[in-house]
Amino acid sequence: MTDLTVLVVGSGGREHALARAIAADPGVAAVHVAPGNPGTWHSWPHHAVDPLDGRAVAALAAEVGADLVVIGPETPLVVGVADAVRAAGIACFGPSVEAAQLEGSKKFAKDVMESAGVPTAASRFCRTPDEVAAALDDFGPPYVVKQDGLAAGKGVVVTSDRDEALAHAAACGDVVVEEYLDGPEVSLFVITDGTVALPLQPAQDFKRVGNGDAGPNTGGMGAYTPLPWAPDGLVDAVMARVVMPTLDEMTRRGTPFAGLLYVGLALTSRGMRVVEYNARFGDPETQAILPLLETPLGRLLYAAATGTLAEVGPLTWRAECAVIVVAAAENYPGTPRTGGSITGPRLYESSDNVHIVHAGTALSGDTLVSAGGRVLGVVATAPTLTKARDDAYAALGELDFPTGFWRTDIAAKAAAGLIPPVTSL
Ligand code: AMP
Ligand code: GLY
Repeated sequence: MTDLTVLVVGSGGREHALARAIAADPGVAAVHVAPGNPGTWHSWPHHAVDPLDGRAVAALAAEVGADLVVIGPETPLVVGVADAVRAAGIACFGPSVEAAQLEGSKKFAKDVMESAGVPTAASRFCRTPDEVAAALDDFGPPYVVKQDGLAAGKGVVVTSDRDEALAHAAACGDVVVEEYLDGPEVSLFVITDGTVALPLQPAQDFKRVGNGDAGPNTGGMGAYTPLPWAPDGLVDAVMARVVMPTLDEMTRRGTPFAGLLYVGLALTSRGMRVVEYNARFGDPETQAILPLLETPLGRLLYAAATGTLAEVGPLTWRAECAVIVVAAAENYPGTPRTGGSITGPRLYESSDNVHIVHAGTALSGDTLVSAGGRVLGVVATAPTLTKARDDAYAALGELDFPTGFWRTDIAAKAAAGLIPPVTSL
């Protein structure tokens, strides 16, 4: 199908990146965003909507004549907004409420992995402080404690301090305690209609707030792709040992997963292990990955949403590198300082290899101000990782954002060849 009208739901950097890539598809006639942010409002028509209100999203999709709705964030998926859109007869890229449990519950995800024989960290589901204490002592330090439900990337504590692990568990309620996984992490995104699955290019993101992976976890402070240190055969191995068994298991349970399956992996000294599943595009990896995708994205997501992915060949990629560095608001991931002004070039448009995606931004009169934790992402593409990161950081240096901060080491080790090649998959 061509001349598609696409409605992108969400308001973060991922949705800005999705809208941008979908709009670049010649088969797409119009893009709408709801609710979007000042960056997306500049480029496409926007509509106020509560992304968690399935009936409102479906009604808006009908009103704008959408052929396809793309749900960006996890929370609408976990409450069934994709189902509401499909019930209104409109194609929707995003899993059903049942399938989104792969992200919505750590315990559910672990159960599926176990039934599917997918390699993951040994774990235990705990409901009481005594169960948590026993699990911590059985697995030993470093301790890994995960809140069972959604937590915007901030529900996981990895620490060698037993008291801190216990305190996090006490604050969370039901938790999963698991064995610590060493080794570099990889994010592999797979677009699937439930049967056919097409992998995107692997990326790596940076979850900790500070340089050198110091400080608490965040939603993600930067990312890059491709991964020069990744072993040959990585994607094929993940497809064969993780993705296809998981999709088969979801189908066997009568709740096929269609949409984007995000596989977070640790490449440990004992082989690959799944760290987590998400049910949607990752943020900020998406901002790095999509600018390199040559296959037109609007028609690709439409095919996944309509069960016709078999008609789409393997995806094709530009042979370049991409880096995104996130500018966050002071005090993130605690309560971020909002209202800080942002001025500088490329805030809305760019004519070179660098562009800016908006996330937690707002307008105060004509002035762009911070309105959330992760505020902007600066994305650069270039023939080498070194050039991409140099260009991204040079562009950040041109911004006047006194209440913002960012990590200065995104993709640094990979660009310098300092990540030891992984040998065992
Ligand atoms: P999750 O929400 O499960 O992705 O966890 C967030 C982050 O915590 C991951 O990206 C890892 O950096 C870290 N993490 C989670 N599980 C483990 C584990 N078993 N061992 C080591 N680090 C982990
Ligand atoms: N990049 C981490 C996430 O999207 O959950």
